[in-house]
Amino acid sequence: MDPERAHHLALWFLRWASRLPLVPALLNFLFGFHDETMAQEIWGIRFPNPIGLAAGFDKNSQALPALGRMGFGFVEVGAISSEARPGNPRPRIFRLKADHALINRMGLPNPGAQETARRLAQLGKRPVPILANIVKNADLDGDVALMAADYVKTLTAIFPHVDGFTVNVSCPATPNLKAFNEKQALFDLLKLLSQERDALVAGSSCNKKPLIVKVSPDVDDAEKAVLIEAFEAGLMDGVVLTNTTTTRPSTLKTEGDVLKQQGGLSGAPLFPISLALVKEFAERSAGKLPIIAVGGISTAEQAHQMLKAGASLVEIYTAFVYEGPSLPKKLAQGLRGPLGWRPRP
Ligand SMILES: Cc1cc2nc3c(=O)[nH]c(=O)nc-3n(C[C@H](O)[C@H](O)[C@H](O)COP(=O)(O)O)c2cc1C
Repeated sequence: MDPERAHHLALWFLRWASRLPLVPALLNFLFGFHDETMAQEIWGIRFPNPIGLAAGFDKNSQALPALGRMGFGFVEVGAISSEARPGNPRPRIFRLKADHALINRMGLPNPGAQETARRLAQLGKRPVPILANIVKNADLDGDVALMAADYVKTLTAIFPHVDGFTVNVSCPATPNLKAFNEKQALFDLLKLLSQERDALVAGSSCNKKPLIVKVSPDVDDAEKAVLIEAFEAGLMDGVVLTNTTTTRPSTLKTEGDVLKQQGGLSGAPLFPISLALVKEFAERSAGKLPIIAVGGISTAEQAHQMLKAGASLVEIYTAFVYEGPSLPKKLAQGLRGPLGWRPRP
């Protein structure tokens, strides 16, 4: 089946499962994971376990009641932009089966910030912490100030309904995002977002919701230094390492024209790249920078490697697509049992 069709079918099921009275309880029975000793508090948020669902799976924020009962310790929704967008023309997701990988150039289809806020508001109590992946409208031109103001609009609209934000400046299929690789542009964006966040927190009783920057695996040395500087300057609260890569590693087993498809590569081939970056960011920040690790994780051992390398939380996407709904519980059980992982005190 066409990969995007398969994805829509899975989401259709999860959306309906979220609405029917007993199905979330059944999903919890089959796939849920509960163990107090795996819970940890980061940014004032209590994460029941360290396994999260990465951005891009539930772009429409419609499957959270079901996803929140399928063993995940948190879910990242979006990417969300200020206005609804259809994304790029199809086909825009490609399977590299031999590599347990995907190439995608979705182009950020989503229902827009207002509609997302409405859907999130309907949730009532959130089943697990929710992070919102925010991005600028895909078709905005390259004016950095306009793009930054657009991120702020989205943050403001969904602020009451989520626990924190991942600031997506690394989606490879989105024009002009690279502008935020420049120090001044990134600092200006983060200043605007944190001012808005602080003003909204001041007027409410909620926690200071973290601003976490989603980083490309293709960052160069200077860009890494800028990110560490932004953290040290108090402009952001953590990083997600990493988004998809535009490179095509020489280790790929897949051959043929699919490799020429434009877009970001995710899944197993990304694992060594993301792991190396987790280690490097942990070292550069002397272990102070909170890191969410994502990229090719498909086993408890790999999740453990990321956590040992300095991550506090991990996320999955492509392996969830290939392996199915039992994966989050399998990872959490593997971490707890054979690997004996527990959160740092
Ligand atoms: C189809 C698809 C859509 C994605 N959409 C987003 C997105 O909207 N925002 C984002 O920050 N990352 C997005 N990602 C990247 C994932 O969140 C994740 O960083 C990346 O896939 C690496 O993890 P994985 O190897 O476990 O898939 C997407 C990935 C895929 C495969």
